[in-house]
Amino acid sequence: MLEKITERVSCGRLQAPAPSKAQMQKLFQAALRAPDHKSLKPWEYIVFEGEQALNQLAQAYLEASLKENSDLDEAKKARILSLPHRAPMVIVAVAKHRHHQKVPHLEEILSTGAGVQNLILGAYDLGFGAYWRSGPLCFNPHLKALLQVSQEDTIVGFIYLGTPSVELKAKPIPEIGDFVRYGLDGIDG
Ligand SMILES: Cc1cc2nc3c(=O)[nH]c(=O)nc-3n(C[C@H](O)[C@H](O)[C@H](O)COP(=O)(O)O)c2cc1C
Repeated sequence: MLEKITERVSCGRLQAPAPSKAQMQKLFQAALRAPDHKSLKPWEYIVFEGEQALNQLAQAYLEASLKENSDLDEAKKARILSLPHRAPMVIVAVAKHRHHQKVPHLEEILSTGAGVQNLILGAYDLGFGAYWRSGPLCFNPHLKALLQVSQEDTIVGFIYLGTPSVELKAKPIPEIGDFVRYGLDGIDG
């Protein structure tokens, strides 16, 4: 398992097939085991799979973008419509705001992020590719409305899933000493 985690890479070049229904059940089970303060289960995953559903998502992207800026030229509109079609499946990952006295929304976002990572790692383990994307659409209030996501909730990302059309190559792992320190030795004061 550790080996899979360290060798995982994102893949932006994705084609059909996406994981099957049975595989998605397993992947969502992994996502729903994310660490979760006070067991609030602050997660929602909205799945868009196949041409028709991806077209619906594309239309929502366009409508929401036009509400932010009605001056988009034809090239920009075409690009927006093409975005969801970069994979056979796109999952919108949402952190729900449960308004718990002891759990700030940040922790719900972190929990959803952990769930997404479980899902991505699981997909990699099953031989699929994934790419976690965000961008301004995550924060577009019109897109939230069109996706029936409450304004107080947070879209943490658009997770693209499918079969890699290129060979995946592990990346170098950063130098541990640059990111980790032990205790307070060497700190003045
Ligand atoms: C919250 C979040 C949002 C991201 N949004 C984007 C994005 O919009 N576009 C993008 O190219 N990469 C985005 N990334 C980064 C990619 O998912 C990916 O991690 C990065 O390209 C590095 O590849 P690797 O995972 O193989 O190291 C995002 C990552 C995270 C955690």
